[in-house]
Amino acid sequence: TVLIIDFGSQVTQLIARRVREAGVYSEIVPFQSAEEAFHRIKPKAVILSGGPASTTEVGSPRAPQVVFEAGIPVLGICYGEQTMCAQLGGKVEGGHHREFGRAFLDIEADNPLFEGVWAKGTRHQVWMSHGDRVTALPDGFRVIGTSNGAPFAAIADEKRKFYAVQFHPEVVHTPDGAKLLQNFVHKIAAIRGDWSMAAYKEQAIETIRKQVGKGKVICGLSGGVDSSVAAVLIHEAIGDQLTCIFVDHGLMRKNEAAEVVAMFREHYNIPLVHVDAADLFIGALEGESDPEKKRKTIGRLFIEVFEAEAKKIGGADFLAQGTLYPDVIESVSFTGGPSVTIKSHHNVGGLPERMNMKLVEPLRELFKDEVRVLGKELGLPEHFIGRHPFPGPGLAIRCPGGITREKLEILRNADAVYLDEIRKAGLYDVIWQAFAVLLPVQTVGVMGDGRTYEFVCALRAVTSVDGMTADFYHFDMEFLGRVATRIINEVKGINRVVYDVTSKPPGTIEWE
Ligand code: XMP
Repeated sequence: TVLIIDFGSQVTQLIARRVREAGVYSEIVPFQSAEEAFHRIKPKAVILSGGPASTTEVGSPRAPQVVFEAGIPVLGICYGEQTMCAQLGGKVEGGHHREFGRAFLDIEADNPLFEGVWAKGTRHQVWMSHGDRVTALPDGFRVIGTSNGAPFAAIADEKRKFYAVQFHPEVVHTPDGAKLLQNFVHKIAAIRGDWSMAAYKEQAIETIRKQVGKGKVICGLSGGVDSSVAAVLIHEAIGDQLTCIFVDHGLMRKNEAAEVVAMFREHYNIPLVHVDAADLFIGALEGESDPEKKRKTIGRLFIEVFEAEAKKIGGADFLAQGTLYPDVIESVSFTGGPSVTIKSHHNVGGLPERMNMKLVEPLRELFKDEVRVLGKELGLPEHFIGRHPFPGPGLAIRCPGGITREKLEILRNADAVYLDEIRKAGLYDVIWQAFAVLLPVQTVGVMGDGRTYEFVCALRAVTSVDGMTADFYHFDMEFLGRVATRIINEVKGINRVVYDVTSKPPGTIEWE
């Protein structure tokens, strides 16, 4: 294991991903609990992340000193470099030369970190984001790379296997960064890259069997990838000790609910309770146009229905959830203050507490793309695994204003046409998320010889890496024209189509 100590950088998770891509298992811990984690995990190498603090301030975060005394390789990144230097006897000062964004690194010396990637005397693009900089090196270190703003942009104590860089090798804007991280884990730390999903699956199955024993498990299926992968994995481990409950809120895309039910019952033979609760949900949402209240209502009803169904099947000892690693990593907070809630995404928050069951969360060590690989390993169909993300509250938040069955049907049909055209154009996999929104506005149109007065449909498509930021997708106009024509011809109730050209920020991906 490689232990990543988090000092609060926005991109710490990317370090973990790059290390795992190199076939080496990695875990992130906040600096506050790093010492305990270090003794528990006994890592073969440590990476110190970046972060917003300044080592020149009193009480700024530090790595536990034991990290430098254990005789294992350590890589410091950005703030990680600064604290490494400060802790080992070097000097850090508030920079006069702040560097943000693209910068160039001049390679001053050949060394194991750059081996096979960057040679002495060459210059390479890197991504910088720092105000402070190292001004004096601790004993044993030498400079291996410099940049305009940072004379100690890359340093090494090859004897102790301590390396540090001021730039961020984990981001794509440092094009060779992933190779440097590979060098660190494979060459410097000599860890074999044999962590694979097939091996992970076997290990996860063992863990589930041990945890559950002869107990009963229930799993709430949402129709999404995470809960489906979790359910199939658990079923492979404990067979029919698992029952799935699929609360169908009637807010799914076209044919989606039926597909999920068929897949579980027919393909996998997994015991599944399909609760058609559309009337309940849509009834409760009627007349509600506040997005947060919609979410709350859906979350509350989900819990109620789920609880009732769980009771009907005689309860269970364990509740299975498709929690992912990004939800588990404790975030390092410096302000301590509450952050503003833009949207409350915790659709079923509170379920585990209320039901007082032990949790089975077999995906809690995985990132989203790793869950997809695991899904493939478990034989889930490609088109299912590769589906765009879909929000828990479903189409309710793609119908601004109050919802009705009729509106949902119109939206579902428009959305299906749009996605069909996207698939035909071969664009589905390059787009992060695409969907139709039914606006609560009617406009005048003319069809044949008649006047129409119908709804407006907005189309949304974005590219993104993690959903945190997004760019609107640049379709060509031909394509958009084709989609608009088809929607207006085929979907009764819509007579006008518009395209959303807002990126995030300042927009959000969903309209509500
Ligand atoms: P926004 O609209 O906040 O969306 O830019 C970012 C990502 O989150 C999804 N999303 C949700 N997912 N429950 C969910 O499970 C929600 O209430 C919710 N709201 C937005 C959205 O689809 C996008 O992928």
